[in-house]
Amino acid sequence: MSRTVAIVLAAGQGKRMNSSCKKQYMLLREKPLLYYSLKVFQDSFVDDIILVVNAGEEEQVHRDIVEYYQFNKVAAVVSGGKERYHSVAAGLKAADRIILKKADDYSYCFIHDSARPFLTRTVLERSYEEVQKYRACVVGMPVKDTVKVADESGYVDYTPRRDLVWAVQTPQVFEYQLVYRAYKDLLEKEEKTLADGISITDDAMVVETFTNSRVRLVEGSYNNIKITTPEDLITAERILDSIRLK
Ligand code: CTP
Ligand code: MG
Repeated sequence: MSRTVAIVLAAGQGKRMNSSCKKQYMLLREKPLLYYSLKVFQDSFVDDIILVVNAGEEEQVHRDIVEYYQFNKVAAVVSGGKERYHSVAAGLKAADRIILKKADDYSYCFIHDSARPFLTRTVLERSYEEVQKYRACVVGMPVKDTVKVADESGYVDYTPRRDLVWAVQTPQVFEYQLVYRAYKDLLEKEEKTLADGISITDDAMVVETFTNSRVRLVEGSYNNIKITTPEDLITAERILDSIRLK
């Protein structure tokens, strides 16, 4: 039997939000931001959820979010690391224990930022279908603005064809062994990777850099925004209200 695990990331500091309460715990219409994506995974075909939080917050999150909202698919609440990729690696390590114990077939892994509360069942199902065909896929949307790539001194270097430029989102979904090995490789070569000036900003990049697998782009949704700065909270309330009206 195969097994599907979701790693939900909530171990950031939320510096750009500039608030005393970390953004993953800020209330969006009475519920913590983190609630929304956990709820979608809880109500889906996903078997297990690994929740990654800041060190020292595990117990409180377990009590106030996992138990309070009865997210019984959460198999572990573990602590993350300094960079997002450290938190993903911590999540994969925790997932590994479950996969080894319970799965005897290909398993799949969703990696999702809790800062994106508007994940939908449709996007989950679409990306799950695609990962079974392509082994690695990332949810995103074609950009609406023209994008310019700048040179080091701030002049336009070139203008990529707009129909080929996508803004990527999460979830990013992979065959479990593929992403596990890619992250293992990254951690082994972390120093050299940093010295080469490569900064790892998403999971697809890790698979692109450390495996031969190509990553397939899958249509997400323009509503699937990442809450990053205070004005995003206003947009988020508007999106939430419009979803509830449907
Ligand atoms: N994240 C994480 N571990 C880190 C850094 C980020 O789990 N070391 C998570 C965040 O909690 C968030 C997601 O990764 O859900 C995307 O990161 P981002 O939007 O950059 O959130 P923060 O890092 O918290 O915000 P900032 O960069 O403004 O400090
Ligand atoms: Mg960050």
